[in-house]
Amino acid sequence: MKITLNLIFSLVLVATIVISAFTYIQVQNERDRLTHELDVRAVIMAESLQESVKELLRVNSSVRLKRLVERFGGRDRLIGVAIYDSKGTSLISSIGSLTTLPDSITHIHESILRGEGIASFNSLDGKSIHSYAIPLFLEEKTVGALLVIHDASFIDARINSIWQNNFVRLLIQTILIIITTVLVVKWSIAGFIKKVVTWMKNIRTGKTHPQSQILKGNIFKPLEEEVTLLAKSLSLARASAEEEARLRLQAESVWTAQRLKEFVQQEISDKDLIVVSNREPYMHVRQGSNTECIVPVGGLVTALDPILKACGGIWVAHGSGDADQETSDEKGKLSVPPEEPLYQLRRIFLTKEEEEGYYYGFSNEGIWPLCHITHTRPTFRLQDWIHYQMVNKKFAEQILDEIKNKKNPLILIQDYHFALLPLLLKSKRPDVRIALFWHIPWPNPEVFGICPWKKEILLGLLGADLIGFHIQFHCNNFLETVDRFLESKINWDQFTIQRRGGVTLVKPFPISIDFPSIVQDETNATHSKDELREIVFKKIGLRAKYLGVGVDRIDYTKGIVERFKAVERLYEKYPQLIGQFTFVELGAPSRTHIKQYHDLMAELDETVDKINWRFQTKNWKPIIFLKAHHNHKTINLFYKTADVCMVTSLHDGMNLVSKEFIVSREDEDGVLILSQFTGASRELHDAIIVNPYSIEEMAESIYTALNMNSKERSERMKLMRSIIKERNIYRWAANIITALSRLRTTISDGEN
Ligand code: G6P
Repeated sequence: MKITLNLIFSLVLVATIVISAFTYIQVQNERDRLTHELDVRAVIMAESLQESVKELLRVNSSVRLKRLVERFGGRDRLIGVAIYDSKGTSLISSIGSLTTLPDSITHIHESILRGEGIASFNSLDGKSIHSYAIPLFLEEKTVGALLVIHDASFIDARINSIWQNNFVRLLIQTILIIITTVLVVKWSIAGFIKKVVTWMKNIRTGKTHPQSQILKGNIFKPLEEEVTLLAKSLSLARASAEEEARLRLQAESVWTAQRLKEFVQQEISDKDLIVVSNREPYMHVRQGSNTECIVPVGGLVTALDPILKACGGIWVAHGSGDADQETSDEKGKLSVPPEEPLYQLRRIFLTKEEEEGYYYGFSNEGIWPLCHITHTRPTFRLQDWIHYQMVNKKFAEQILDEIKNKKNPLILIQDYHFALLPLLLKSKRPDVRIALFWHIPWPNPEVFGICPWKKEILLGLLGADLIGFHIQFHCNNFLETVDRFLESKINWDQFTIQRRGGVTLVKPFPISIDFPSIVQDETNATHSKDELREIVFKKIGLRAKYLGVGVDRIDYTKGIVERFKAVERLYEKYPQLIGQFTFVELGAPSRTHIKQYHDLMAELDETVDKINWRFQTKNWKPIIFLKAHHNHKTINLFYKTADVCMVTSLHDGMNLVSKEFIVSREDEDGVLILSQFTGASRELHDAIIVNPYSIEEMAESIYTALNMNSKERSERMKLMRSIIKERNIYRWAANIITALSRLRTTISDGEN
């Protein structure tokens, strides 16, 4: 804007000076021309009258003289004619009543004295006049003078009109200068700047190479050269940062997505990474006439999606969404995440019977309660087992098809749904490296021993080169189970199992989540804690001094009933908290086809109802139970505003809710109450660790949390955050990939 104004001001100033100078010259010329014209006219007229006047003076005919003089009065700019005697006294005049001319017209006497015609400009009655006096001679003697007076005001009028016209011209030019300058600035300068901005943005985001030219051979060339240099340095800086990240791989520092990406490229170079799980990371579902893509809840997806996003690869999973088939190609493949594709998802479709037997039946009514010691009896049906085997085979076939042209791929199998898959793959493709991560606890041999197909499951698992659990205790249980039921050679120092030429390493890899270095939740980040609390109060329809939160897939292993009972006990023990503390449970319905889950839902509703009925007041309730698949933004809102988060699982492999709560607390506040039966309790010592079966202890822990001073809260939270920052999901992935890719997968006969 300032540039435009400066430019306009300078151009207008120059135009004004030039036009004024030219007008001045034009005015001088015009004045000279008109004066000369008037002079000539006056001389001609005076000389043409001179002889007649002389004649009439000679005969002394004043009557005729008068008539002659009057005949010339008032002609074309001629004001009048006057005759003077030799003393300069007016004899006859046709200048109206002005027989006596003003003294200023002195040149009459001068003309008589000098004997020659003299012209002069004067003013008469405020009007500019031109007067010309010429002497009259009779027989060599001066007898008087003849005066011819013309109106000269037209000269000033003409001069004024020249000034006026040129002023209007200057005005038009000024307007044109302003318009032209604004347009030129807009088109050439602003247009160029816009181009440069887009170009620089593209370079910053890596879409354009810095050497790509923006404009060629124009006046902005020097600027373009400078900007190009700047862009090149940026690109160099970026490259060196990447190089530094690559070099840092050797050193111990925080793992990031970028570091994992570099690491994977180095460690497995051209080998493909394939992840297998039952639950898919992106599910398409019908919502009325629309199709929506949702991210299913659960720790598995939360943990693995960032890894695939960082490293790329293929994720093979059950396509369980009702719009999954129409949103993938004939092989069930699509690129995900849909808004910014970073890896491939291959969906495998199951029949209703297969899903019923393999997923609901054997996996969730058999293995799930078998591995979680929550006193829920496992159910093993032959039909479910058959379906479990069939689905494992189906996955094996499709994975073998996927890797048929790939050399030494790395396959990371997830969880208890695919216990048979490692052996199915290994028997067909001995060159593949297989890791299986068991996300849930592994029980002791006595408990596991009740499974009718325990040997088949163990044999299937031992097809893997690496088996991972969250904690060492589960690894111990697994080795003891193998020792009890299979013939094999177990190396307790190395934690390896050798069987028929193959070796399986068993190792703990405590799973984690992403610890973003920047605040990702923009909406929640733009509000203060008080503002977020107001949003929460609006959502739950009440206000309270203290807020507690629980976030779970509704499952009997999560200890939700016990948690509610602890809240009830809290009011009994500390009635002053009635009306002050509200507990919000965000529960995502899960596996509702299964009777135990169905019954649990009813039990939870009944418990909440009973407690609320007992303690609620007109505007307040003890427990708000929100049953829905809440999105991450909503969950985050509750995490950020809660005074206390309760994770009270009766048994849990790791439990990532506890870690999510800690990562969300950028304010380094809030207290975590954590069950001693979660894998997470082995890492998060600064939580309040509780036995979820002890209602008394849990009620007391809520009271302790609400009364903990802010210094202690902050110290505990800081320590827990630093642990998760360091032991994040990228470190987990790097550890598994390192262990798998550096493993010796065969043993020599001598070692057998
Ligand atoms: C929990 C377990 C995972 C398991 C998942 C299955 O998150 O920790 O190991 O894979 O549940 O949940 P789903 O809803 O897929 O049955």
